[in-house]
Amino acid sequence: MLFNEFQASMCNALQGSAMAAEAKQSCYEGSSVQSFQFYLEKSGEHEAILQCVQSILPGEFKRIGTGKSGLDVLGIGSGGGELDVQMLSVLQSTFPALPITADIVEGSSQLSDNFKALVSKTTNLQKITFAWHVMHSEDYEKQVKAKGDVKKFDFIHMIQMIYYVNNLAETIKFYHSLLKNNGRLMIIVETANGGWDTLWKTYRKELCVDAITEYRSSAEVLACLKSQGLKYEEHIIHNTFDITECFDMSSATGERLLNFMTAKDHFYQSFTPEIRAGMLDLLRNKCSTEKDGRVFFNSSLSCILVYA
Ligand SMILES: C[S@@+](CC[C@H](N)C(=O)[O-])C[C@H]1O[C@@H](n2cnc3c(N)ncnc32)[C@H](O)[C@@H]1O
Repeated sequence: MLFNEFQASMCNALQGSAMAAEAKQSCYEGSSVQSFQFYLEKSGEHEAILQCVQSILPGEFKRIGTGKSGLDVLGIGSGGGELDVQMLSVLQSTFPALPITADIVEGSSQLSDNFKALVSKTTNLQKITFAWHVMHSEDYEKQVKAKGDVKKFDFIHMIQMIYYVNNLAETIKFYHSLLKNNGRLMIIVETANGGWDTLWKTYRKELCVDAITEYRSSAEVLACLKSQGLKYEEHIIHNTFDITECFDMSSATGERLLNFMTAKDHFYQSFTPEIRAGMLDLLRNKCSTEKDGRVFFNSSLSCILVYA
């Protein structure tokens, strides 16, 4: 075994070991998987993203794939793969005769298993060759650099995961370098000045303490793309969801939503009464709009397509 391969395999072997435990635990396992699934049910986030990608991607895929003899896709932080399978289905139906590969970099073993189970029951994906990289994006980057022989991709996507990477600029630079000619890097992130951006930046000190140490919205991503001189286009994905129950202390749904929105296991035990009151006031008055007595949180997203 070459030294570089040895290094790469050690890197894999250390996942989940004592050394990995020292790293920040940004990948979803256990209660955070449940919390995320609960959030997805309540927020309509996947439906909103799907609507956007289904309107943009068919044209993009046609352009990317024309004249190619095969297509390679890379998903970073794909979670349970619900959006990946839809996007891959669009790609497969756009180019039914082309061989397609999908590499998936996802640090959560639980969500990777869910994704694999979803693939095995999705009939129109059976011709796609999957490669599973159950590891942090940072470890994948190290492994690729150590190996030297770099697989390039036609379409790379990072949906709702850019908050978790250690270094925004390095990550964008690395994945952009993996694009083939004509390829696209799609980053979907909470939009600048939306509800999440307002909440997380106002309460940065209280919230940016665990997996997310530096909150990023589309503002930071676009600034980074500009500073690297990369060409991109931005599409806004409008979305809101009902957080009225967050203002009822006795509501389990309200508490579970607050847990996810503040990345805590127990919202009520994690902050002082003053901080909680401030957050709830901000959520109602700065992050949301009210209609017919209900409070709707502004959870709009940006879909950013970065050119190769
Ligand atoms: C908010 S979820 C989004 C999942 C999926 N893209 C979606 O939209 O349904 C964030 C995902 O990123 C994964 N993740 C977090 N940090 C990561 C890292 N450093 N490298 C790879 N995946 C990571 C988590 O395990 C989780 O699956």
